[in-house]
Amino acid sequence: MTNKYMYFIANWKMFGDLKTINSLDKVIKFSKSHKKNKFKLIYCPPNTLIRPISKRLGKTNIEVGAQNSHQNLDYGAFTGQVNSKMLKSVGAKYVILGHSENRMAGEDDNLINLKIKNSIKSGLKIIFCIGETLKQKRDKKTNQVLNSQLKKGLKSIIKINDIIIAYEPVWSIGTGLIPSSEELSKSIKFIKSKFGKKSPKVLYGGSVNSKNIDQLKIIPDIDGFLIGGASQNPKKFIDIIKKTIN
Ligand code: PGA
Repeated sequence: MTNKYMYFIANWKMFGDLKTINSLDKVIKFSKSHKKNKFKLIYCPPNTLIRPISKRLGKTNIEVGAQNSHQNLDYGAFTGQVNSKMLKSVGAKYVILGHSENRMAGEDDNLINLKIKNSIKSGLKIIFCIGETLKQKRDKKTNQVLNSQLKKGLKSIIKINDIIIAYEPVWSIGTGLIPSSEELSKSIKFIKSKFGKKSPKVLYGGSVNSKNIDQLKIIPDIDGFLIGGASQNPKKFIDIIKKTIN
């Protein structure tokens, strides 16, 4: 049981169609039956579902975010891309940036920094993902990598209040593996230490499920979870939330 205000962010990745939205009803019902001040729920579906999901959520206190944005603030000839203003205009309040799946597809720290700055300008809050690869972990470079990703990704950003950090070790995403409690505590502490008293919220992401949540929720200083696979199933998602807050 934790009394802290916790974030639960659903990252649907490239999954879901209009029918999938029906699965939200269970989560809406669950959320309505709980005190507002205990947790924050944010859905980050594919762009195609942002509008219909925000309509379905209506006046609930569940919010919607996107999974990436193009760095340009204005319209432009960028086939297949969507910028932060466009995402905001269809109901997104947040955007995930720096996710390792996009870093692996070629996004570097400078590009991520630009995306963060311009998404803030558009009025979005940022879910900024950082995390080390398995090789970097084995080489004992975790802190070095986190430090560098934080420094470069957040370069010249003053509005730290608009940022939520998601610590997602690359080796834990979709693998069923999670860091030991000691490793995770250390990394969360390390990230927070970079900001002093004004630290943003720091979440954990990577293979969070209803079985390992008991171990994860007791990590000191953890402010919530970014959940991929398990967030697509309302029962599993609710289970994770229940186990954390009850
Ligand atoms: P996972 O994904 O929970 O399926 O490991 C987490 C993420 O990529 O954000």
